[in-house]
Amino acid sequence: LSPPGGPGDAAGQALPVESRPFTSYGSALHIALPQAPRAGQLLTLLIDYEAGEGPGVCWLSPEQTAGKQKPYMYTQGQAVLNRSFFPCFDTPSVKFTYSATVKVPEGFTAVMSATSWEKQKDNTFVFKMSQPIPSYLIALVVGDIVSADVGPRSRVWAEPCLIEAAKKEYDGVIEEFLVVGEKLFGPYVWGRYDILFMPPSFPFGGMENPCLTFVTPCLLAGDRSLVDVIIHEISHSWFGNLVTNATWGEFWLNEGFTMYAQRRISTEVYGLPYTCLEAATGRALLRQHMDATGEDHPLNKLRVVIEPGLWGVNPDDTYNETPYEKGYCFVSYLAHLVGNQSKFDAFLQAYVNRFKFQSITADDALEFFLEYFPELKEKGVDSIPGFEFDRWLNTPGWPPYLPDLLPGQQLMRPADELAELWAADSLNMEEIEAVDIAGWRTYQLVYFLDQILQKSPLPEGNVKRLSKMYPKISKAQNAELRLRWCQIVLKNNLEAEYSKVKDFLHSQGKQKYTLPLYRAMWGGSEATRALAMETFSATAPQLHVNVQNYVKKILGLGGAE
Ligand code: BES
Ligand code: ZN
Repeated sequence: LSPPGGPGDAAGQALPVESRPFTSYGSALHIALPQAPRAGQLLTLLIDYEAGEGPGVCWLSPEQTAGKQKPYMYTQGQAVLNRSFFPCFDTPSVKFTYSATVKVPEGFTAVMSATSWEKQKDNTFVFKMSQPIPSYLIALVVGDIVSADVGPRSRVWAEPCLIEAAKKEYDGVIEEFLVVGEKLFGPYVWGRYDILFMPPSFPFGGMENPCLTFVTPCLLAGDRSLVDVIIHEISHSWFGNLVTNATWGEFWLNEGFTMYAQRRISTEVYGLPYTCLEAATGRALLRQHMDATGEDHPLNKLRVVIEPGLWGVNPDDTYNETPYEKGYCFVSYLAHLVGNQSKFDAFLQAYVNRFKFQSITADDALEFFLEYFPELKEKGVDSIPGFEFDRWLNTPGWPPYLPDLLPGQQLMRPADELAELWAADSLNMEEIEAVDIAGWRTYQLVYFLDQILQKSPLPEGNVKRLSKMYPKISKAQNAELRLRWCQIVLKNNLEAEYSKVKDFLHSQGKQKYTLPLYRAMWGGSEATRALAMETFSATAPQLHVNVQNYVKKILGLGGAE
């Protein structure tokens, strides 16, 4: 403890330290101060510590990387994992700047979510984040990685064997998203926007670490078809990283606003029909999620109660479709109340400006909304029966308002009609063959497969035939198509293609791909249950510990929450 400038500043003073039980996902570090500090007094604490096997820091062997030559380490902070990376106030309600000095072995590069970095001698990297951020946004990677420019303030990072593909995927497209984002939501304050392609076991599609988004290598589809993930992470530059949910119980403030911002940018860049198509696939995910968990599940509220203590909800468990897609519906509902897109865009920009670098609650956000639109406040829009703000936040279940996706009809209708044809008892091959899917975009195929999945199991033999007819789907390399195809294979007991499920689960470890497939396998036949066990025992060591534990829970292997 050293009050700067005072006596004892240089020497400091050793203090009694104790670790006390806190929650099932971490303990509290208690440091006893010799006397109560005065209000406004600056304290400097120097904590000497070692990070071990905690869930925030992932140590990968060479076999777990794309190049299979050198080991790799990365950190994943969100939601509450960074407490095992460094001692911190691990809550999104506290923001701070940071700097870090990282020494790595010869032949490795370190990168962090920082506004500046510099390589010094002895393989030492020095990082600085000059804007205040919450603990969960601090991130570090050390590996055999290289970079390539893809825009005036953007480069891609990847292992050497992936860098060509990474550059090709996003060369020249990132800047436009940033420019549109700035036009809609205000200045981009983070300096650079770089993208790091992670090893295949990375559990998320993307993670919005400031200045340096982490993404799954599954995005390398070769045709930019999965770029919505990038637009999503860019959108967090305003919603989440500038204006942050104060507690994980209101995670929808980060993700719901970000889904809305993502689709605003997408609408500007790709048009309304395409964006509605993408949103329709999001709505299908929400439907599947609510069907699987039950609409009334307590996690299907926008506001989740996270009690402190050993038996509370683990914030990581709130990662499901509700904060994303129900949150998106709520923000769309607010826009609908305003009734004018440019007025609502202006509100979003004012919201960012009002709360930037702060952490807020849903009440703060909604109060600001009503202040910004006094005529709506006057009308009492927060208490329209059936659409009360309170109901949006505190009642589980399907959203009371859904944005109109009709502008996407031209892209969805052919897929709806084709799915109808394939669900028939006796197939009308003439009509089916008349539909040419060669020119369909990935999300049209995704939408089509969602319809097929919803209608599954199809009459005996139909899926086998469908598989033969469209190798573009059944042999797809695109991860979003592979996920849906595997789900269809399982729901229709197409044993001949079970190996595809196994191959897909061996090739990557994204949570949103992994858990639905294990749920489907476990809910299926003897054969699919055996497939689940066999696949899990072979791939478990590659999966992120959180994902491992969720799979264990599905398979009844006694995994923690
Ligand atoms: N911040 C999330 C990822 C996350 C959420 C990590 C909760 C840990 C806990 C990220 O921005 C995200 O939402 N990623 C999505 C992208 C998709 C919605 C386009 C994903 O990974 O699927
Ligand atoms: Zn997100």
